[in-house]
Amino acid sequence: MSTRGSAEARPITVPELVAMKRRGQKIVMVTAYDYLFARLADEAGIHVLLVGDSLGMVVEGRETTLHVTLEQTLYHTAMVRRGARRALVVADMPFLTYQVSVAEAVRNCGRVLKETGAHAVKVEGGLEVVDTVRRLVEVGIPVMAHIGLTPQKVHRFGGFRVQGRTREARERLKEEALALQEAGAFSLVLESVPLELAREITEMLEIPTIGIGAGPYTDGQVLVIHDLLGLFEEFKPRFVKRYALLAQEVRRALQAFKADVEQGRFPTEEHSFRLKPEEAS
Ligand code: KIV
Repeated sequence: MSTRGSAEARPITVPELVAMKRRGQKIVMVTAYDYLFARLADEAGIHVLLVGDSLGMVVEGRETTLHVTLEQTLYHTAMVRRGARRALVVADMPFLTYQVSVAEAVRNCGRVLKETGAHAVKVEGGLEVVDTVRRLVEVGIPVMAHIGLTPQKVHRFGGFRVQGRTREARERLKEEALALQEAGAFSLVLESVPLELAREITEMLEIPTIGIGAGPYTDGQVLVIHDLLGLFEEFKPRFVKRYALLAQEVRRALQAFKADVEQGRFPTEEHSFRLKPEEAS
């Protein structure tokens, strides 16, 4: 059956995400860092592909996201964009590409949109990024905001810790959520906050909230693709559900290949080329 022209086939846009919240339709986002996984996620009907700066950890093997560069973001986002037919592509702006000044943020975020074809950017932070968000939106750059556990502040937090545990911290997060919406952010990631707070913020806002470690009451959910596919085994945060155990499967396949080569079972003549009769002489 053709899905041409149907809601299922239409590209996901920034206004469509906001409309999904109004319709009560859940938003599903995963991270992607290359063409192949972007394409698979897009084919699976995932609505948003986030080129997360988590690439520093799951792709590069670093302990934090802090060293990721603008050049890496440009490189990975362009690959993801080529794999996305329908999904909205959001580039996660790396540490120090948007915090130094509003002008620098506009230049760097603008480069990401111009050079990669991404549809939007994500920036971490609360009141300290409100003016930047406002200016980015004014010049036409859609912004996904991100509060709660913002990994670029990992050292200030003293680790990857749940945020919003005190009444004061919860009030501050609510104030930040409203300020970011007012500045024009089209959605808000809530990371590692108590589910009661995530629910309250979600009910308070007109823009959709997308949770990770924020419980079931947000408008959407995001997971790091390596976590949900069981590819990243070094640690598993409490909020991760593994939908496959691909690391085990990859090891099994590679061991089977190694054994076949070592024992002469691969390649067989079937996997080989023969000379054509006219080439044989
Ligand atoms: O970098 C990332 O993957 C993220 C998500 C976890 C929201 O920011």
